[in-house]
Amino acid sequence: MRANRGLAGLIAGDTTISKVDVSTNSLWYRGYDINELCAKTSFLEVAYLLLNEDLPTSKQLTEFEAFERSNRGIPKAMYTAFENMPTHAHPMDLLKIGVSMLGSFDEENSLGSNTHEQNLRKAMLLLSKMPTVVANSYRISKGQPPVEPDSELSYSENFLSMILGKKTNDPLSVKTLDNSLILYAEHGYNASTFSARVTAATLSDLYNAVSSAIGTLKGPLHGGANEQVMYMLQEIESPERAKQYTLNKIHNKEKIMGFGHRLYRTGDSRTAVIKNLGEQLAEQTGITKWHEISRIMEETMIAEKKIYPNLDFPAATAYYLLGIPIELYTPIFAASRITGWAAHILEQHDDNRLIRPGCEYVGPTSRKVKPISERL
Ligand code: COA
Repeated sequence: MRANRGLAGLIAGDTTISKVDVSTNSLWYRGYDINELCAKTSFLEVAYLLLNEDLPTSKQLTEFEAFERSNRGIPKAMYTAFENMPTHAHPMDLLKIGVSMLGSFDEENSLGSNTHEQNLRKAMLLLSKMPTVVANSYRISKGQPPVEPDSELSYSENFLSMILGKKTNDPLSVKTLDNSLILYAEHGYNASTFSARVTAATLSDLYNAVSSAIGTLKGPLHGGANEQVMYMLQEIESPERAKQYTLNKIHNKEKIMGFGHRLYRTGDSRTAVIKNLGEQLAEQTGITKWHEISRIMEETMIAEKKIYPNLDFPAATAYYLLGIPIELYTPIFAASRITGWAAHILEQHDDNRLIRPGCEYVGPTSRKVKPISERL
């Protein structure tokens, strides 16, 4: 029996965390439609939902937010380590190192307990600290001084302010980041989540499972696509070149970043909200050419290949209009997806069995070893 390439179509496990409904192109977090969550909740409420199985009451949210705000700081030694990293290191690699360091600094983690309570504690610490790691490891690599997180600001106000290096509370900008974090938070057995579950299933700890996931997310076929989308739009540069660029890529059988999906075949329900917010930002800033290029590419891809944009396509332009450095697009995705990863690690550890599939050997057989002097 030959394996399904890329495990396409395979059901690898049960989950209560999210449902991708391909028949309606919709995505549901613990039974709630993501579009309704974007309209009516904040990213932190969604983080609570993913980690605790239901939306918080007002009291629960207050406590959750208080924990998050008071745990944003990271050890000074981590700043020293980032100062000693080469300036060419990618922010995703700095984030992966940062998460590993946070695991080493967490004394309770070294005791090796993977109980539900311990995993929840570690997940909330990472949720609180990852924006600081993302913003400050990047700033240090650019020769800029780190900035302190501001506990007076909401999660997304603080994250955006740290990334941009100035206090930012423009409502449209904060809502765009916050909604993008909701949309990026969880997506079933995607590649990075699956890798987190594989690591967790060996009874390794949550920090190591998240490090595995970050390494997996970095690839351009997965989370790394959002930064590649923006480099591509910059390369195209003007709407006049967009159609021919797309046709050339199709003709040369090259992948166009931000299009296609393993599960969705007729559109990705996560795109509408962020596209709309991006268009509002374009109106606010007067910079419309990225949406013009995107519109032409989308029309051409649908007409020629019936392949639709995924979330990374409109997210890239929205982040660009927010003034976010392109190399930080995937780390921001990771700072959101920590919630989904952690929910899956909790689910895995709460009912664990080692994940270890078989494979079909298709190489040569029954070979005889010649002495080295006879091998040519
Ligand atoms: N650009 C051009 N063609 C694409 C494409 C894209 N982005 N995505 C899929 N296709 C084409 C493939 O060339 C293939 O065509 P063929 O049957 O004529 O050979 C067909 O669609 C199936 O693609 P395949 O790569 O087998 O699908 P997959 O399910 O293995 O891959 C992705 C899914 C997401 C990896 C793929 O769509 C892709 O590489 N997209 C670009 C990267 C990206 O945006 N990733 C973020 C995903 S959320």
